Amino acid sequence: MSRRTVRAVAPGKINVHLSVGALRSDGYHDLATVYQAISLYEVVEATEADGFSLEFTGPVDTSELSIDEDNLALRAARAVAAAGDVTAGVALRIEKHLPIAGGLAGGSADAAATLVACDALWGLELGRARLLEIAAELGSDVPFSLAGGMKIGTGRGEKLSSILHRGSYDWVLVFGDGELSTPVVFNELDKHRWSTSRDTGIIVLDPAVPTEVLQALRLGDVEMLADAVHNDLQAPALHLMPRLMGTLELGDRLGAVTGMISGSGPTCVFLCEDADSARELVAGFAAQGITGHHVTGPVPGARVVG
Ligand code: C5P
Repeated sequence: MSRRTVRAVAPGKINVHLSVGALRSDGYHDLATVYQAISLYEVVEATEADGFSLEFTGPVDTSELSIDEDNLALRAARAVAAAGDVTAGVALRIEKHLPIAGGLAGGSADAAATLVACDALWGLELGRARLLEIAAELGSDVPFSLAGGMKIGTGRGEKLSSILHRGSYDWVLVFGDGELSTPVVFNELDKHRWSTSRDTGIIVLDPAVPTEVLQALRLGDVEMLADAVHNDLQAPALHLMPRLMGTLELGDRLGAVTGMISGSGPTCVFLCEDADSARELVAGFAAQGITGHHVTGPVPGARVVG
């Protein structure tokens, strides 16, 4: 008997704005962020099987990724099976396009695509609300990869709310040659805050998305958005990987409207005036031997395809 396969995709994300609050007792930080889903996708194929297994394909080197039980996609598959009282297993094949530990939520996208693929494979129809609950248990960015589009994230990033926005944005991504661990970057931010607050008495304010960001997005105004983007994790990421500053400066010189670190890095993202400017920026980077990837956002969240 032939085994059925369901294919699903899930997008990576950029944090257009990321404001980090205080360290909580559970080890997470409260934050307020604006997520934008971008047109760079993980592709997951879920095939009926007796047990649970995982393999990676695609352009990204995955040789160091765990394919054991602790892998987020396998945990996602098992969580869907548990929620639907499914006793069968699944063989997952993930075509990876998002860099590992790159600040674009690639692992979260793997999990989000797995959630919708397994839900469809087993005919569960758990519904978006239940899948979002499961996603939040898996990781802070997983609910957004499921939802897609453009959303405000609060709590540790898992609480999503809608935002008024118009238009589409052109970005050029430059992946870092290396990885930055999210907990390490958050920890670096805390260390810096503790040391400066001892000197100056500065306290960490409640995280918030400024009205300038919301207004720029409502108008779809690239220049206005460029003035308003901000990432609290940028300084600690640059401190841990100073060479990223050179990439940001180069993007600036090559004509990007603005550049920033995405999430906890090391991917640098450059906002461009339009698609032509983005293509020119990719060519400019190429002339310096650097690969840039032109993507657009916002795009829809995780979904079954074909
Ligand atoms: O939720 P996720 O498993 O992706 O988070 C990975 C790590 O990143 C957490 O264990 C925590 O150290 C850090 N983190 C944080 N505050 C957040 C999100 C993540 O400190 N809001």
